[in-house]
Amino acid sequence: MRVDTQVGIVGAGPAGLLLSHLLHLSGIESVVLELRSRDYCERRVRAGVLEQGTVDLLTECGVGDRMRREGLVHRGIELRFGGRGHRIDFPTLTGGRAITVYGQQEVVKDLIAARLAAGGRIMFEADDVSVHDIQTDRPHVRFLHGGEPMELQCRLLAGCDGFHGVCREAIPAEALSIYERVYPFAWFGVLAQTPPPSAELIYAAHERGFALYSMRSPEISRLYLQVAPDEEAVNWPDTRIWRELHRRLGEEAGERLKEGTILEKGVTGMRSFIAEPMQYGRLYLAGDAAHIVPPTGAKGLNLAVADVGVLARAMAKYFKSGGEDLLRAYSATCLRRVWRAEHFSWWMTSMLHRFPAHDGFQHRLQRSELEYVIGSRAAATSLAENYVGLPFDW
Ligand code: FAD
Ligand code: PHB
Repeated sequence: MRVDTQVGIVGAGPAGLLLSHLLHLSGIESVVLELRSRDYCERRVRAGVLEQGTVDLLTECGVGDRMRREGLVHRGIELRFGGRGHRIDFPTLTGGRAITVYGQQEVVKDLIAARLAAGGRIMFEADDVSVHDIQTDRPHVRFLHGGEPMELQCRLLAGCDGFHGVCREAIPAEALSIYERVYPFAWFGVLAQTPPPSAELIYAAHERGFALYSMRSPEISRLYLQVAPDEEAVNWPDTRIWRELHRRLGEEAGERLKEGTILEKGVTGMRSFIAEPMQYGRLYLAGDAAHIVPPTGAKGLNLAVADVGVLARAMAKYFKSGGEDLLRAYSATCLRRVWRAEHFSWWMTSMLHRFPAHDGFQHRLQRSELEYVIGSRAAATSLAENYVGLPFDW
């Protein structure tokens, strides 16, 4: 069966869903193809920190009501090292900006609900997706739906299918430059039924490895521990998780961290990755399909949102007037922000983690960097303005 639309979108993560929603607001039709089920997409626990610009965009486009009711506005973070916590105050350092803690799966739920309420088409459980003729004006996508072969014909294609998707792979290797770093550690993430022991996130640099204390609600905590890159969750019984969190988060936060039920565990590898340019012919990559950051800077989801903000505007101009200038500039426009976030995420990761190959010299450099960030207003301002996010038109 053949389906026709203006924009074909592969992937129903935050990037694909928000793009579909923004296009709809500009009167442009799209179809979203998603490998997984709706239930799976709505339950996938990932990022939790929304920059001010992300919050503003979601609010402006009408999907921010629940986020504004249930999201937790944070005006600072704590950096913890040498047994002490040091607060970075965002509003003072950034002219009043802040972040909102609201789970990625909640953003995904809100976007799916908005698309379906507006009659939007999301085809879940689309198998064997492949993209074709991307260098022509008639790109199309082939896939199986309920075992039936289908073809989606479109004018423009958006590859929002994450790091392991098929869209980036469809671009000839010689047309892409890849920049990559794989870090010698992973994050072991835990979702736990326990009230936040601290009102704000704690990033802890410890000689046993990095730890992060975050949250999802007044009852649910999100906790991370630096582990070996090949670590498996089965090696972490609950008692080991709590012991390690108490040690690394230090006495103060550790003492207040109550050992509730662990609801979910998982290990995430850490890498930096950028594919340039983020477009080829009529295919435009957005979000994790084009770039990955290590989660230490909390930038992955925010970059995906910023990309599709730029892409939706460019596609709207193309369909309204045939003007292609914004589409042509898409990759260059996004990459400036992407590389800033890549640098910030790499810097936070390098400053806070224990690297297996580091010696005393490097440990002391890390410590010096941390002392500088908490001791110098200029250094603290640099961390704060990157963390809350640079303006979308930066
Ligand atoms: P995704 O959210 O990856 O969405 C891509 C969608 O495409 C998915 O729904 C996928 O099922 C679908 N798809 C994939 N292949 C196909 C195909 N062949 N056909 C059709 N559909 C396909 N960031 C943080 O800031 N903090 C974190 O703690 C954090 N944790 C993470 C944990 C994990 C395991 C991962 C993978 C990422 C994490 N991130 C984190 C990064 C953040 O979640 C991503 O940057 C964000 O999800 C990017 O959104 P996206 O829409 O570009 O991609
Ligand atoms: C999260 O809440 O999942 C989270 C918070 C901050 C990060 C990464 C993840 O840097």
